[in-house]
Amino acid sequence: MTQTTGRLIDGNALSKQLRAEVAQRAAALKARGITPGLAVILVGDNPASQVYVRNKVKACEDSGLHSVLEKYDAGMTETQLLARIDALNNDPGIHGILVQLPLPAHIDAHKVIEAISPAKDVDGFHVASAGALMVGQPGFWPCTPYGCMKMLESIHYDLKGKHAVVIGRSNIVGKPMALMLLGQNATVTVCHSATKDLKAMTLQADVIVAAVGKRNVLTADMVKPGAVVIDVGMNRNDEGKLCGDVDFEGVKQVAGWITPVPGGVGPMTITMLLVNTMEAAERVAAA
Ligand code: GUN
Repeated sequence: MTQTTGRLIDGNALSKQLRAEVAQRAAALKARGITPGLAVILVGDNPASQVYVRNKVKACEDSGLHSVLEKYDAGMTETQLLARIDALNNDPGIHGILVQLPLPAHIDAHKVIEAISPAKDVDGFHVASAGALMVGQPGFWPCTPYGCMKMLESIHYDLKGKHAVVIGRSNIVGKPMALMLLGQNATVTVCHSATKDLKAMTLQADVIVAAVGKRNVLTADMVKPGAVVIDVGMNRNDEGKLCGDVDFEGVKQVAGWITPVPGGVGPMTITMLLVNTMEAAERVAAA
């Protein structure tokens, strides 16, 4: 029988399983007197950021991690924020620090991220974390591409020798995604806004990761039959409904596997934040 539609990689189901594992590890650490702790800092009142941080804090509580949400008004100075990070770096009850982006324009986000101790950089945005990923040393991986790797692992996909095409080159998703795929011995192509013939690239791909932030970047005619398609996009369609970068209805007819939006990469991002925070706490416990 020929398969006519791609099988779904269910990010909610995988998240549930991974979060249950985190909860077990958290309980084990608590029994030794250490409660894993995450500090989440939000500056300003960006509505999307407010939803994201609320979800992150709730996910921590649900898995038995301690979390502190620090909300500051948009007038907070860079100096004040750096002082808070310094205090959290030195707080033994806090194992992970996350500063929600974007920050107000008067604050230098790069400077803020670099102020976070790499041992607590559970977002994986510090240059030390990026460098560790690049040279294959232990460190924290950015949560979204890490979640994508877990999704590939969940279908027992062997990347060795496969051609992976990443669409998007952000520091948060595209670039680290390319390095993670390379680390698993895939041949990796990174496409972006200046790529001349995107379709010619994606048609060669065994795995496609779409991380652009624009609807319908990937359509059925651009996908090789049987390819695995991971959709990192979070957009709204004309009806205001959440949708990804991939034309899901069309591409699922061609792909071998596909991640939906919602219910795909989205929940995995928060799950990997919990995993990283757990890992940070375990490293301290083992030291
Ligand atoms: N803003 C949008 N996504 C993220 C994320 O993963 N981490 C942080 N800190 N800010 C974000």
